[in-house]
Amino acid sequence: MKKVLVATDKPFAPVAVQQIRKIVEDAGYELLLLEKYAEKSDLLNAVENADAMIIRSDVADKEVIEAGKNLKIIVRAGAGYDNIDLEAATANGVVAMNTPGQNSNAVAELALGMMVYSARNFFNGTSGKELRGKSLGIHAFGNVGKYVAEIAKGFGMKIFAFDPFVSEGEMVKFGVTAMASEAELYSKCQYVSLHIPATEKTKKSIGFELLSKMPKNAVLVNTARKEVIDEQGLLKMFAEREDFKYLSDIEPACKAEIEANFPGRYFFTPKKMGAQTSEANVNAGLAAAKQIVAFFEKGDITFKVNK
Ligand code: 3PG
Repeated sequence: MKKVLVATDKPFAPVAVQQIRKIVEDAGYELLLLEKYAEKSDLLNAVENADAMIIRSDVADKEVIEAGKNLKIIVRAGAGYDNIDLEAATANGVVAMNTPGQNSNAVAELALGMMVYSARNFFNGTSGKELRGKSLGIHAFGNVGKYVAEIAKGFGMKIFAFDPFVSEGEMVKFGVTAMASEAELYSKCQYVSLHIPATEKTKKSIGFELLSKMPKNAVLVNTARKEVIDEQGLLKMFAEREDFKYLSDIEPACKAEIEANFPGRYFFTPKKMGAQTSEANVNAGLAAAKQIVAFFEKGDITFKVNK
């Protein structure tokens, strides 16, 4: 009997686990559940007998992949797969997949939620600002960026986007004005919302040079990955631009320095919370389980991300 391990340090909502279990058991497989594990060794032990594994931001590095002696497929229930060592997966004959789009609305809602929270001075009792009429730059117009555009339209924001992989026509359909470069986007927009993946190219790519182009009362919203930020540049921006605020779904490495020096100008979720809704858990978790069954039963590799 095939064994499907759900290894989630940050557990799915119980309703999602129940439904994943049903899909797995209906296919005649066994579900193994490892949640909130304290040590990497717990994951190494759990993956030992698994034929398939569903993860979230859990790290599937070479050691984990090699520990999975029977492992054939890893599905990242979510969008970003920077937590999977793709080369190690390929070298060990393991298919790696993601579930694109399934948790995007949840992430987009958090991006706008953090913007409202900051515009209202973190509800500290003073008069804040509104989002209506303000400029929003969407940096990368993928699944999350599109939901951000739809929601921001409801707020009456002026919306711009930069994404070299998406046509201007596609952006226009969402009521978004296409920008020709990152520099143009940052120069134009008071709010910039990041939706770029963490790749060798994008890591540390958002620094002082781009941020300093932003207009007065600049707000950077990061629901992507902390690794895309050049934190030295971020600290310089905080120091040189008293009007700048940073809102991030996950604490930056330089959190202590920001807290000590720039009070009232930041908000960080303690854990990555963008996709942490039961709807997103159900959407991404069920998609992952279905993809595993389709892979074993029909050889379906539609969402494969490794070579
Ligand atoms: C993603 O890449 O899908 C998001 O960052 C969500 O990550 P999570 O599943 O760890 O919440």
